[in-house]
Amino acid sequence: MSLIWAEEAERLFVACDLPREVVRALSRWQLHELEGRDDLRATVSMHLTLAFLGDVRKDKVPHVVEALATVPFAPFALKLDEPVFLPRRGAKKIVALSLSDPGGGLRKLQADVSRVLAQTGLFKPGKRPWLPHVTVARYRHGGQPFALQNVNIPQFGVVRMVLYSSLLERAGAVHTPVASFPAS
Ligand code: 2AM
Repeated sequence: MSLIWAEEAERLFVACDLPREVVRALSRWQLHELEGRDDLRATVSMHLTLAFLGDVRKDKVPHVVEALATVPFAPFALKLDEPVFLPRRGAKKIVALSLSDPGGGLRKLQADVSRVLAQTGLFKPGKRPWLPHVTVARYRHGGQPFALQNVNIPQFGVVRMVLYSSLLERAGAVHTPVASFPAS
């Protein structure tokens, strides 16, 4: 095992940003549905994670950026679907919204990203099939599902993928964009 010191590494993940109006509508839904739930922490930075790399040595970050730049994608449409509680088995850690991907653009993008990142040797795809979702809250100590109203937000377009660096602070993770990849 090789340990990486925090100063030498960045905790990276690749995500699609949601349009501003979708984030706004989601925040309103969060406020309404999660009000009074002290067992949950609402997610502030809402995004759709495609791949989580974890700690990557700083000198290797350009390889990640180069790999992602080779993935062409056209804008695609998504719709936020029903709430899901993850993981599927056992105590739940997150409350999320699943996504429908009518044209398959999201699945294709995630598969392409996963493949090019795996080729760098800096990313290992998960064993379980990828589940597209947007995390809206995290349980403070693990919990159980509860009744939630479905979100009612019209279909929206995804036009950008972003490589983020995540800094774990006491108050929660701070996500900073490292590189942005627009759809073409
Ligand atoms: P999530 O949206 O499913 O919660 C930054 O930590 C992002 O990477 C989170 O939004 C999280 O996705 C995702 N992620 C995936 N696997 C992770 C892991 N093992 N540890 C931390 N974050 C992970």
